[in-house]
Amino acid sequence: MQELSILAVACLGALAAASPVEQRATNYVGYLVSTFTDANPKVQQYLSNGNNAYSFRFLNKGSPVLSSTVGTKAVRDIFLATNTARSEYYLLATDLDINAPGFSWDAATRTGSRGIVVWKSTDLVTWSASSLRTIEVSTAGMVWAPSAVWDDATSQYYVFWSSRHYATSDARHTGTASLDRIRYATTKDFVTFSSPSDYLAPSGTPVIDQEFQYLGTAGSFARFVKNETTLQVYEERTTGGLFGSWSRVGTYVTTQTPREGPASFADNTTPGLYHLWLDNYTQYVPYKTNSITTGGWSTESVSGFPSGLKHGSITPLTQVEYNALGAKYPS
Ligand SMILES: *[C@@H]1O[C@H](CO)[C@@H](O)[C@H](O)[C@H]1NC(C)=O
Ligand SMILES: *[C@@H]1O[C@H](CO)[C@@H](O)[C@H](O)[C@H]1NC(C)=O
Repeated sequence: MQELSILAVACLGALAAASPVEQRATNYVGYLVSTFTDANPKVQQYLSNGNNAYSFRFLNKGSPVLSSTVGTKAVRDIFLATNTARSEYYLLATDLDINAPGFSWDAATRTGSRGIVVWKSTDLVTWSASSLRTIEVSTAGMVWAPSAVWDDATSQYYVFWSSRHYATSDARHTGTASLDRIRYATTKDFVTFSSPSDYLAPSGTPVIDQEFQYLGTAGSFARFVKNETTLQVYEERTTGGLFGSWSRVGTYVTTQTPREGPASFADNTTPGLYHLWLDNYTQYVPYKTNSITTGGWSTESVSGFPSGLKHGSITPLTQVEYNALGAKYPS
């Protein structure tokens, strides 16, 4: 982590005690996948058949559950955030339309959206209209792949994303940018955000697509990050909270390439089993490990694994949530 701010240092104690929502509970009965496809860049959801991490049905008869009406009106990199009380839910997404006329990745990283698309719900099935929330400063070329971790100690979310930055003198972003890095801000409501700061900027390596996995004891996390040079995802872990010191776990999750868009989740029924889905630029490929603190990821052979899933997130569900989703969006 570069440029650790004084504020972050002051928060270190509180963060080490953070107990975010991904903690394992005994009362989870299934999983929700929130995702999108290249062809249809809207929020699409799959519900597991019971507590089976290998069997899903496409909710809403295969139609998207939410469409963006703001910004580019297309969304990618869907992330579902919630608090420990599960009294509120936020769907977050990148504001980017790769199917727009004249689209180019170069323009998308120079003058792309500096906001994220946000929907709010209090019951996981009734959603607000979409909002575009600007979270980056004017030097940023884009904001990609938002994710968030709820922090009980400070009753707020830590929001993370990737961006690259241009010199302040280069107002039109025509010059050479910084390498892609992970940035963060805090928010209580996804309406107002703290000023953004660097979170992770490894020397010489452009990185995107960070996601955290809470490991079940206070301050203990894994995180997954894509190295944009090798187009591979690596794992790091800490016992010191989000702003603690992190150590690399192995080399890469897999030697297979390209891989991006990590989405990890703890198995609801088998203690110590974690799943990690990696997007191979076409769709998710599932991996698993029984030793997340040392790596040991292997591909999962899953019959009937849904095809075409892109960078999304997987959320464990309580019975109330599971029933509400099944009732509102029959498959
Ligand atoms: C990313 O990959 C490049 C090329 O192999 C390597 O030099 C660099 O150290 C890697 N960075 C990280 C953080 O893995
Ligand atoms: C991604 O994975 C799917 C399913 O295993 C496979 O059919 C497809 O060829 C892969 N695409 C790439 C680019 O590796």
